[in-house]
Amino acid sequence: MDTPWWKSAVVYQIYPRSFCDSNGDGVGDLAGVRSKLDHLERLGVDAVWLSPFFRSPMRDFGYDVSDYCDVDPLFGDLADFDALVADCHARGIRVVIDWVPNHSSDLHPWFQEARASRSAPKRDWYIWRDGTPDTPPNNWRSAFTRGPAWTWDEATEQWYLHLFLEEQPDLNWRNPQLVEAMHDTLRFWLDRGVDGFRMDVIHCIGKDPALPDVDAKLAPIPYCALNDHPSTHELLRGIRGVLESYPGERTSIGEVYLLDTDRVATYADPGELLLAFTFPPLYAAWTAPAWHDQIERAERAFGSRDAWPTWVLSNHDNPRHRTRYGSEARARAAAVLLLTLRGAPFLYAGEELGLEDAVIEKSRQVDPGGRDGCRAPIPWDGSQDHGWSGSEPWLPWPPERERRHAEQQWSEPDSILALYRALLAARRASSALRTGTWTALPAPEAVLFYKRESSDDARFVAINFSDEPQAISPPLALRVEISSGPSASGAAFRGRLSGDEALILAIDA
Ligand code: NOJ
Repeated sequence: MDTPWWKSAVVYQIYPRSFCDSNGDGVGDLAGVRSKLDHLERLGVDAVWLSPFFRSPMRDFGYDVSDYCDVDPLFGDLADFDALVADCHARGIRVVIDWVPNHSSDLHPWFQEARASRSAPKRDWYIWRDGTPDTPPNNWRSAFTRGPAWTWDEATEQWYLHLFLEEQPDLNWRNPQLVEAMHDTLRFWLDRGVDGFRMDVIHCIGKDPALPDVDAKLAPIPYCALNDHPSTHELLRGIRGVLESYPGERTSIGEVYLLDTDRVATYADPGELLLAFTFPPLYAAWTAPAWHDQIERAERAFGSRDAWPTWVLSNHDNPRHRTRYGSEARARAAAVLLLTLRGAPFLYAGEELGLEDAVIEKSRQVDPGGRDGCRAPIPWDGSQDHGWSGSEPWLPWPPERERRHAEQQWSEPDSILALYRALLAARRASSALRTGTWTALPAPEAVLFYKRESSDDARFVAINFSDEPQAISPPLALRVEISSGPSASGAAFRGRLSGDEALILAIDA
């Protein structure tokens, strides 16, 4: 059987506000994305995932949706979206969009109707509890503010639940009409030709109806540990049913923000999500033992249930790995790792340029979760506005924009951009790298050495996590296919890795 596209695809995440501005308002937009498809095609990505571009008051920069079925005017309109999908498809690039099912904006007409009175027909589309204004119904804390996950509604004298900001009331997935309305929002975009959805904090949609207190110690990041309720799995089967009622292989990628790989993998059981983000590796230290452990955990958890792992180093919620790992040499080695593990890799726009987080002074910080640094705008060229339509972007630029912009890096054969492009091409050409097995091989403590193997193809990968040279003993004669460091491609491999160097090695025929 053919491998489904989403298993071997490299997905490129675009945070539309920060990608490219076409109309001079300083905020990226859909036409801006459309103007950069040459970059994506040349890089060789298989799919893009667009973070939210829906109508929103932008309290959480689009993760607070006030209309699931329209484009916010800041980003363009539905015609821009259709044109973007058509252009992507014409280039063989699939389009995955974000879907935010756990909560809406408080300005969504559903919530406006729901809060109008206790007997409003849509009251039960959100989660309300009786009480007194001084004591929230339980001890849940909301992400970002760490205050109570409840807000007292003066007019109707009840509390409503919000795992995130008070402007992001949680939807009640126990209400069948709400479920149907949310399924309709999927159908709206499926009808417009999208290839799938990235589903925001999907593990939170099913909640224990008793909404019990949690052990505060177990919930350092409240929404992580709180919500892992069996009803979510049933709801996921309903969602999968909607996707499967459409032709083609529409994918689902769930943000399952549980920092436990075994638990995450249960969301990719048959009939549920096709892919589930596994975030523990994103928080792992850059050492060979830490990564070895993360990989084995994912191999076990996903492999034992015939599910497919995912790999993420950076996204719009965390400091970029270039910043976390502290050097370009390590970011280059990390790119080799990300793109040679068994599973679906996700790139975050700008990592192919080796961008670091912007350092942003307090007066310019805008995100309630303090995530502005990784959302700095992408510099496209060497002009004064770096391709941003003459405008000052909504956030400050990342460091070294004069030499890290895309145009510059496309002209340099040794740029990190050139490395990413070579890695994507190598994956595309190798069934072992795309879908083969993963096996660890003996190596010194600072090195991760592994084999990827399919029925008719094999590759070896060696990653030196230290800045000192290291030696390994390859089991057979190998040659260097790609190096993140000084080794020349095509050269025979002599068992030596330079500091911070990562290699893809092919059998020397
Ligand atoms: C996860 C998203 O990635 C993040 O950006 C957002 O703030 C929360 N979910 C709430 O929607």
